Amino acid sequence: MSTSKILHEANPSAEWWRTAVIYQIYPRSFADGNGDGMGDLIGVTSRLDSLAELGIDAIWFSPFFKSPQKDAGYDISDYRQIDPLFGTNQDFDALIAKAHTLGIKIIVDIVPNHTSDQHAWFQAALTAPEGSPERAYYHFKEGKGKNGELPPNNWFSIFGGPAWTRTTNADGTPGQWYLHLFDSTQPDLNWSNPHVAQEFDDILRFWLAKGVDGFRVDVAHGMVKREGLPDSDSHDATGKEYNISKMAIDEAEKRVPYWGQPGVHDFIRRFRSVVDEFDDRAMCAEASMSPLPRLAMWVRPDEYHQSFNFDYMATPFEPAALKKIVTDSIVEYGKVGASSTWVLSNHDQVRHATRYGYEIEIPKAGDGIGPDYAQPDEAIGLRKARAASAFMLGLPGSSYIYNGEELGLPDHTTLAPEFREDPTFFRTNGERVGRDGCRVPLPWEADATASNGFSATGKSWLPQPANYRVFSRNLQEGVAGSTLELYKRLLKERKAFGMGAGEFRWAEEFEDKNTLAYVNNGVLVLTNFGPEPVVVPAGELLVTTQHDLRLEGELEHDQTVWIKL
Ligand code: NOJ
Repeated sequence: MSTSKILHEANPSAEWWRTAVIYQIYPRSFADGNGDGMGDLIGVTSRLDSLAELGIDAIWFSPFFKSPQKDAGYDISDYRQIDPLFGTNQDFDALIAKAHTLGIKIIVDIVPNHTSDQHAWFQAALTAPEGSPERAYYHFKEGKGKNGELPPNNWFSIFGGPAWTRTTNADGTPGQWYLHLFDSTQPDLNWSNPHVAQEFDDILRFWLAKGVDGFRVDVAHGMVKREGLPDSDSHDATGKEYNISKMAIDEAEKRVPYWGQPGVHDFIRRFRSVVDEFDDRAMCAEASMSPLPRLAMWVRPDEYHQSFNFDYMATPFEPAALKKIVTDSIVEYGKVGASSTWVLSNHDQVRHATRYGYEIEIPKAGDGIGPDYAQPDEAIGLRKARAASAFMLGLPGSSYIYNGEELGLPDHTTLAPEFREDPTFFRTNGERVGRDGCRVPLPWEADATASNGFSATGKSWLPQPANYRVFSRNLQEGVAGSTLELYKRLLKERKAFGMGAGEFRWAEEFEDKNTLAYVNNGVLVLTNFGPEPVVVPAGELLVTTQHDLRLEGELEHDQTVWIKL
C-alpha cells in the first residue's frame, strides 16, 4: 500500500463549479447557422445535442455582444445586445432554454477592463470637455513634453506599441491622450469612478436575470491601475519584459502598476455580492497572475469562485514540472477553500496539439505561429495532447476544454497574412502573427461543404487548413480510438467515479522517473512520458489514449491510462 499523503480530500459539494467540465465556445468558429461564414447562436443551438453527448457540464461563450469586432468581440459597444453577426437576444434566450433542458449551464464573458471606442460612453467622452464627468469614465490625460506631444507614461499595449493614443479636439488641435492596454479601439475604463462600478452592477444583473449561470471575467487583473498612473518598471533596458511570476508579490505590484493592484479586490467583492443576489451562479477570473499564492488571493471565499490556472497551461508535458504544478495548485487553492481549475488550450494560445509538436521553444503565448516559422510534428503533437488531456481530466477540480480540442485539432500554422484579423498582427507589422491560428472554424462533416460542414454554404471567416478534414467530427463519431470518443469516455468515467471532487494522492508506488501516477477516488491515472513502454498495474481498464483504446500489457510512450484498482 502507498504511503503518499492525500492531497485532496473527497469533498462532494452542491457547488457545481467546483467540479464542472466547462467547454469554451468561440462563437465565430463553432458552427454557422445562417451560411455567412461566421459562427452564430442558431448554429450553436443546432449543435447543442452533440455537446450534451460529449458530456460537458457548462459552456463558456467568448463575447458575442455588439462590437465593431476590432478584437474579435473583446471590444464591446453595447453590453446588453447580441451582435447581429451572431444573432439576436431572442436567439440567446432560445439557446439558454435548450441548454438548460439538456442540463448544460451557460457562462458568458464580461469585459470590464475596457470598452470599444464605439461605445456610447467613449463617444460621449470624446466630445465632452477635459475634466468632464464623461471623460472620467476613462483615463484621459495630458501628454508629456513641451506641447503634450509625448504619451503620459511609458506603458506598452499588450498587442504592441504604446498604450496611449492622442485625441484631436473639435477645432482640429491635438488634445488629451487616452489609455488602452490593448488595441487603440479598446479604451480602458476608470474603475476609480464609482459610476463605472454601478454600470457594471446593472450589466451583471441584466444577464443574471436572463438566466446565465455565471461569468468569465476578462482581464480581471487589469481593472485597477495605481493612482497617478506612474511609469512602469516592467521591462529591462533592452525592452525585454521581466518575469514577474518570479518576483515577490509586492515587488510585482510595484513594478507593474496596472496588473494585480490590491484595490481590485474591492471590485471583485462587489461583483460577488451582485452575483450572490441570484442562486447558484459563479464567476471565473481571467487573471494572469503568478505565482499561485498570488492568484489564490483572487478566489478567497467572498471573491471569484474560480480563476484560470494559466501556470498549468504553461507547464511543459514533462513529469517533474507537472507534478509540481498539480501539487502546488491543489495546495494553494485549497488553502483558501477554492477548487483548482485546469486548462490546456483557449482562444489566445497555440492549441496544445500544436505546442507539443515542437521540441524547440515556440513564440510566447498569444504571438502565434505563422508560415515562416518551423512547423510542428503533428503526429507527436496529437499523441502528447491526448495523453495530456487524459492526465488533466482525471484531476480533482474543474477543467476547461477549448472547442475543437475534443477533435484533436491543431492550429492553422500556415495561415496567409491576408486572412489575419488579430490586432497583434497589425500593431507589430506582422512580426507577431497573433492568435488567428487557434481560432479557425471547426470541421463537422468531412467534405459536406468546403468548410467541412461548419457552414452550409462552405464559407468560413478564416479558411481551414487542408489537414482539418481528417479531424471532422463525423469521421470520429463512434470510431474507437478517435479523440472524440476518447474525450467522451474520459468525461463519462470522470463523472461515474466522482473524480471532480475525489480523494486524490500521488501514487508513487507506480511511478518511475518517466511516468506520473495518481489515484483519484480509486481510479489510477498513469501517464508514460517515454521513451520506453511501461508495464501497467493490474486492474480494470477504464480508458486509455493508446491506439484504438485497447491495451495489452504495456503502455507506450506519451500515452495515459485510467485503471480501476
Ligand atoms: C483576454 C482575451 O482572452 C483576449 O482574447 C482579448 O484580446 C484580451 N483579453 C483583451 O480583451
